[in-house]
Amino acid sequence: MKKWQGLIYPDINLIRFFYKNRLHTEKGNVLEIGCGHGNNLRLFAENGWNVTGTDICSNSIAAAKSNFEQFDVNSLFIEGLLAEISTKLENKYDSVILPNVINYMSIKEIKDTFDFVSKVLKKDGFFFLITRHTSDFRCGFGDQIGKNQWKLNSDTTGEKGTSQLFFEEWEIKDLVQKHIKLKEESLIILRRTFDEIQKEMKIFNADTIIYGKKL
Ligand SMILES: C[S@@+](CC[C@H](N)C(=O)[O-])C[C@H]1O[C@@H](n2cnc3c(N)ncnc32)[C@H](O)[C@@H]1O
Repeated sequence: MKKWQGLIYPDINLIRFFYKNRLHTEKGNVLEIGCGHGNNLRLFAENGWNVTGTDICSNSIAAAKSNFEQFDVNSLFIEGLLAEISTKLENKYDSVILPNVINYMSIKEIKDTFDFVSKVLKKDGFFFLITRHTSDFRCGFGDQIGKNQWKLNSDTTGEKGTSQLFFEEWEIKDLVQKHIKLKEESLIILRRTFDEIQKEMKIFNADTIIYGKKL
């Protein structure tokens, strides 16, 4: 078996979501936008799901393709912005996940991405999102380029020069419900905060996690 490239483990809250909602007892097709090396999709593939991942980073897509050769499921990895590659994707998915990616997008790209998700996610299919909250350490560092949007000027977190968009909990919930429409009774919204050490500095992370079933 080839050595796994990049991050190995899925996001801890994605793991909790996956088992809490018994997705290990189902099989289907899952799409992750911003999949990196495939550490999150690995959880689905190990449980028999067919996986599709997209990312703007060619190295990540190449690594993901190689990583998934070991799984006996269909896997498809495509490089590019969603707007450029959406026609290469399936028409319907049983689950769509967006962990730790939309904070790198513009508000227009997020709305377009959510509209696409709304089109391809099956009724009762699970949507899962993690994104940065306005109380995150990074919000306010660098040059302000929009409402709660900053071009980071510190390299402590390895994100210097990236544009980062932060949301209040109600703001991101409203956007999800306006563009994707999840069943209110299935909607879960969680706050996640944790400290971590990066380049000998303590970094306070704050995220909002939203998941639920498509109406
Ligand atoms: C912090 S990593 C998260 C990777 C993975 N989703 C996870 O939770 O471990 C962000 C990923 O999103 C990708 N990315 C950034 N902007 C993107 C965009 N506009 N469309 C698709 N992928 C993007 C990056 O290349 C990177 O692989």
